[in-house]
Amino acid sequence: MAALRTVAAAMAAVALVGRVQANEHPLPPCLDPFQPFVYSGCFQQNDNTQILPYRSSSPSDNMTVEECVAECKGNGYRYAGLVYFGVCYCGQTVNGPQVSDDQCNLSCSGNSSEICGGNNIFSIYQDPTFPPADDVTIADYHSLGCWTDDSSLGRALVYRQDQLDSASLTTEKCLQACRDGEFPFAGTEYSGECYCGVVIGNDTYAAPASDCNMPCNGNSSETCGGSARLSLYVAHELQSLQPCGYEPPPVSSSTTLPPTTSTTSTSSSTSSTTTTTSKTSTTTTSSSACVSTTVVPPTCEYKCGKWCSNPLPDWDDVDGCKLSWSNCALQVASCFKHAGFPDALSCFEFGDWCADVSKYCNSKPSGGCRKTDFCGRNPPKGGNPPTTVTVTTTCKPTTTTKHTTTAKPTHTTSSTTKCPVPTPTNICTQPSNARYGYGPGKPVGGIDMPVVTCNDLAEDWPAYPFKQYNFPDSRDCAKYPRNRCGNACADACKEQYEDCLDVYAQGCKTKTKKTRTTWPGRPRDTSSSYRRAYAGSSPAEKRTFFSSWSDSYDSAVQKCKAQYSDCLAVNRGVTGAGKCPRFGSW
Ligand SMILES: *[C@@H]1O[C@H](CO)[C@@H](O)[C@H](O)[C@H]1NC(C)=O
Ligand SMILES: *[C@@H]1O[C@H](CO)[C@@H](O)[C@H](O)[C@H]1NC(C)=O
Ligand SMILES: *[C@@H]1O[C@H](CO)[C@@H](O)[C@H](O)[C@H]1NC(C)=O
Ligand SMILES: *[C@@H]1O[C@H](CO)[C@@H](O)[C@H](O)[C@H]1NC(C)=O
Ligand SMILES: *[C@@H]1O[C@H](CO)[C@@H](O)[C@H](O)[C@H]1NC(C)=O
Repeated sequence: MAALRTVAAAMAAVALVGRVQANEHPLPPCLDPFQPFVYSGCFQQNDNTQILPYRSSSPSDNMTVEECVAECKGNGYRYAGLVYFGVCYCGQTVNGPQVSDDQCNLSCSGNSSEICGGNNIFSIYQDPTFPPADDVTIADYHSLGCWTDDSSLGRALVYRQDQLDSASLTTEKCLQACRDGEFPFAGTEYSGECYCGVVIGNDTYAAPASDCNMPCNGNSSETCGGSARLSLYVAHELQSLQPCGYEPPPVSSSTTLPPTTSTTSTSSSTSSTTTTTSKTSTTTTSSSACVSTTVVPPTCEYKCGKWCSNPLPDWDDVDGCKLSWSNCALQVASCFKHAGFPDALSCFEFGDWCADVSKYCNSKPSGGCRKTDFCGRNPPKGGNPPTTVTVTTTCKPTTTTKHTTTAKPTHTTSSTTKCPVPTPTNICTQPSNARYGYGPGKPVGGIDMPVVTCNDLAEDWPAYPFKQYNFPDSRDCAKYPRNRCGNACADACKEQYEDCLDVYAQGCKTKTKKTRTTWPGRPRDTSSSYRRAYAGSSPAEKRTFFSSWSDSYDSAVQKCKAQYSDCLAVNRGVTGAGKCPRFGSW
């Protein structure tokens, strides 16, 4: 509650300084099918307090519950609220007391058989696909680096937290304010400003880390953004598990149960099989609840040091397998970037694991190609096992009320994950240099540049056709409009340079060579980039390549630098012309 009051205060402050409000550049309503919002009751707005901060700009004279809910869903909010015949609002929390349902007695302007609140009384609907927020702490926010906040279209994050004292602002205080408001995004700026948001403004870009160069007023050993630059953080735990555009994974099953019974839903996953056991013993005439049980992959599937992979999509055929391989290969660079030395050395093994996925796909042309089978033989290292989630929503009343079932294991029909995943072919070019021995397929230290290719998120399309895959979760990756494709390559060169210093040069310094020295005898243990290099090189080149990990620190640094400057040069003319012409065409 307190948090929401602060949001209201923040909104007032935003208006005061002439900045745009949350509703000026809304995302489009969600047109894809999504889990219906659940009616949550009738709530009263108190004086001087905004019950939900985002006001829709859609006309209120033809409003329906469906239209308002679709707008809130499209903009990533958890709650939709309708007031006074159909003024539509959205928010992350509801800041007002519940009142009896009969106080919501005004019909909707666009459908007279629906209720649209009362006078200052809101009919509230809730998106049931958000995970519980109770356990989320500021430790769940992770850094996305430095981002621009200088758009004429408005703030990168629209909810300014002016209730925080600027003179004593720390990163933790800002994260706590955003967590209290259940905002997934948080950002600090200009030493003493704190912002929260549900989405990142659409004219916001990743900026060089060096742009965020201002210490926090309350703790000078922390960075609080810069001038028109945000130190940005995200907690995915506060975002919907099924955002607009989400397609359910093939491994799931649903069953309809009355709401008042205690249900035991267990689910065990063996080769894309979900078993749902339900016991129902009472009869009820009220509307029933839909209970669906889904096996959710772990948030941390493969772990190297401080880095966790984003779990590969499930697959049960060769095409799905290949999509998963692309997804895997796109994450290798993020491992080197985030794992931290010396754990980053195990990122080579992660690369090998991805290569094993590819081999597995190709070895199963005639069926039996399943993720569970692959993972049984090649278990991901360091992460957590999958979990089971039960989502309960209200659904249409049904006549099936009295039954006891033990559902048999059901094989879902071969349905591949449809999420588009770009092929991991880099638009940017790995530079060559005969003197230092690097070239396509054999970057310094075997560390490829992050892949720059088509953006895999439909909602970012078409404003940002390109993306640099430098985070495991693609939502965190830097995205680029068409005219900035060249910047994407320059950024990728820089990332490769940093990884080269942090992993390769460090490895040479500490003489930590791990599996690399045993490479020629153990081809299975090698990353795809090593494999490509190995396959395409003469024996003499191979020797040079593998002995390169015995560089001195200084000569390793020299190679990294040379590769960086060659990389910038060779990618100077990249325009992206003809690449990624349409969403999904890659
Ligand atoms: C951002 O949103 C506004 C309003 O919806 C739109 O006019 C503009 O083109 C968008 N800009 C980008 C870069 O997506
Ligand atoms: C109201 O909206 C519906 C679609 O939701 C549309 O068919 C109808 O023409 C609209 N009516 C008016 C008066 O704008
Ligand atoms: C509708 O609800 C309001 C309170 O929100 C109440 O004052 C009013 O009497 C109600 N009208 C009817 C017809 O029930
Ligand atoms: C009006 O709302 C009712 C109740 O939700 C629904 O059954 C009906 O389809 C809606 N009518 C239109 C035209 O959307
Ligand atoms: C200042 O920030 C540093 C780095 O996050 C942290 O270790 C330290 O405890 C903070 N000091 C205070 C007084 O909060």
